[in-house]
Amino acid sequence: MKDTSTSPAGTSTPAADRARTAARHELDRLWAAGTDFLGTEYAILGGAMSWVSERHLVSAISNAGGFGVIACGAMSPELLETEIAATQALTTKPFGVNLITMHPQLEDLVQVCLRAGVGHIVLAGGIPPSSAIRAIREGGARVIAFAPALVLAKRLIRMGVDALVIEGAEAGGHVGPVSLTVLAQEILPHITEVPVFVAGGIARGDAIVGFLEQGAAGAQLGTRFAAAAESIAHPRFKEAFIRANARDALTSVQLDPRFPVIPVRGLVNDGSQRFLTHQAETLRRFQAGELSKDEAQLEIEHFWAGALRRAVIDGDVETGSVMAGQSVGMVRSVQSVEDIIAELVDQAVEALIRRSDRREH
Ligand SMILES: Cc1cc2nc3c(=O)[nH]c(=O)nc-3n(C[C@H](O)[C@H](O)[C@H](O)COP(=O)(O)O)c2cc1C
Repeated sequence: MKDTSTSPAGTSTPAADRARTAARHELDRLWAAGTDFLGTEYAILGGAMSWVSERHLVSAISNAGGFGVIACGAMSPELLETEIAATQALTTKPFGVNLITMHPQLEDLVQVCLRAGVGHIVLAGGIPPSSAIRAIREGGARVIAFAPALVLAKRLIRMGVDALVIEGAEAGGHVGPVSLTVLAQEILPHITEVPVFVAGGIARGDAIVGFLEQGAAGAQLGTRFAAAAESIAHPRFKEAFIRANARDALTSVQLDPRFPVIPVRGLVNDGSQRFLTHQAETLRRFQAGELSKDEAQLEIEHFWAGALRRAVIDGDVETGSVMAGQSVGMVRSVQSVEDIIAELVDQAVEALIRRSDRREH
């Protein structure tokens, strides 16, 4: 970690030490709502990433003082139970589980989490059913949900969620249309009832400070953690991240408004081209009466599920889905989770020191 409490000659000065300690306290104050809610040292969540956010990455993030989140994805209740137990064997720190609301066994998955003592369940993939929110809260855990607009944020709070994530279109994976810059302005000033975490395009601690000062409780990062040393992603997947610039992480194109799939942001490659062909072919089969609308919708969604696994696990970065956010341009090397978090905190502290210097001069 870079030491900023040193003079140019390399020796620590009492004034620099005091400034650093004050800035660290200021950071703790700024994200207190987030750290209290998560039970962590830092209000930094590792966003759940299908195939990537399993026991190793999740425990590494939690052990480093952040909040890891297991991506349940399409796992069965039995597999999820195993993954939670394996994660608990690697960390005693809090971590969460991300469940996709359209999973056909959502209720069972919730019960698996509750039985295992998971304290926070993230419900992703649309507005969650009230029954799931109720079951989680009655089971003693907390619910985190995604709010893609202010009106939905208010509705989710009325439904009983305990915290929100606002995720901008800059993020990797399935994204909405609005940037975090705009979502933050639309939502943060108006939500005080629950902690709100920001996600999408964040790769530096000074950016986190900016959002905390706007009222966020903490930040969720995915892309940077996907390339971490502890991530099980294939070396070729991580190399593709290191090579890529922000402009290479584009959203997939929706061919037909009757199939309003959420766009997926990832690195452009042969796979992203194939997705267009796949949609066109699915559309043709739907129009020919070979597939019902629901079946066609599933066909389109299933394309990405298989393609992500190929990229992450098999290292097929040409035809697989290399989901990545625009922050991929700031991934420069494979770093340990501890180094990534230390760097983020260090950048946040430095930003606060600079701010206080500006006030004093
Ligand atoms: C490879 C990849 C897979 C992802 N899979 C999921 C997922 O299964 N569920 C989910 O809620 N979010 C998923 N996300 C989004 C992340 O949880 C996180 O919110 C996002 O990466 C934050 O933006 P950033 O990539 O700019 O840091 C995924 C992101 C990436 C990069």
